[in-house]
Amino acid sequence: MSVQIAPSLLAADFARLADDADAVASAADWLHVDVMDGHFVPNLTIGLPVIEALHKHARLPLDCHLMIEFPDRWAPSYAEAGARSVTIHAEAASAPIRTLRQIRAAGARAGLAFNPATPVEPWADLLAEVDMLLLMTIEPGFGGQEFMPLVLPKIRRARELITAHGGEIWLQVDGGVGDDTIGRCAEAGADMFVAGSAVYGAADPAAAVKALRDLATAATG
Ligand code: DX5
Ligand code: ZN
Repeated sequence: MSVQIAPSLLAADFARLADDADAVASAADWLHVDVMDGHFVPNLTIGLPVIEALHKHARLPLDCHLMIEFPDRWAPSYAEAGARSVTIHAEAASAPIRTLRQIRAAGARAGLAFNPATPVEPWADLLAEVDMLLLMTIEPGFGGQEFMPLVLPKIRRARELITAHGGEIWLQVDGGVGDDTIGRCAEAGADMFVAGSAVYGAADPAAAVKALRDLATAATG
C-alpha cells in the first residue's frame, strides 16, 4: 500500500471550503472531513448538509471521520451523502458490525477509529468488516494539538494485526501529523496520514502535502 495523504478541512477556512478543497486537489488523495457533535467531543463542526454540498464541489473523495454519539444512527447517511469513506469510533458505536456493514452496503469504505487510550486488540475479530483503522494520535476534538508518541507502539501492533489478518486494510493516523512526526508514524506501519494544520497552516498547502508524502515514503523505504 503506497502512502496516502488526507488534508483535514478542520484547519481550512470554513467560509471557503470549496476553495480550500481545491487548493490540495492536485497533490492529495482524500479530503478528511471531521464531523463533531459537541457530545462525543467538546467541539461542534459540520454535518450532513455540508457533506452533501462538498461532495458536489470537491474533486477529491471525502473521508468522513465521525466524532459523534450514536454513529449507528448516522453513519450510513454520510455514505449516502457521497462520502467515499466513513469512519466511526469504537468508543461510540453500540452495534459496530451492523453499522460497518451498512456503510459498505451504501458504497463507502468502512473505517473504525480508536482514541489514544483505546486498545485495538479487543477488536481484532472485526478486521474482516473494515477497510481502514484510524488511530488517533491526539485526544479528538481540536486541530493543532501536539502529537502523542505513546500511540506509536499501538500503530506497530495494529499493523501486525492487519498483516496477520492478511486483508488490504489501510492504517490511518490523525492528530499532530506533520513534518516532524509523519516519518515515525510511517515507520511504525501507518500508510494513510491526516494532516490539518501542517497543510492549511502552510503558505502553499499543495507543496506541504507533497513534502509530507515524500517524508512518509522515505521513512518506509
Ligand atoms: C481532530 C481531528 C483531526 C484534526 C487534526 O479531532 O480528528 O482530523 O483536523 O488536526 P491537526 O493535523 O492540526 O492535528
Ligand atoms: Zn479527523
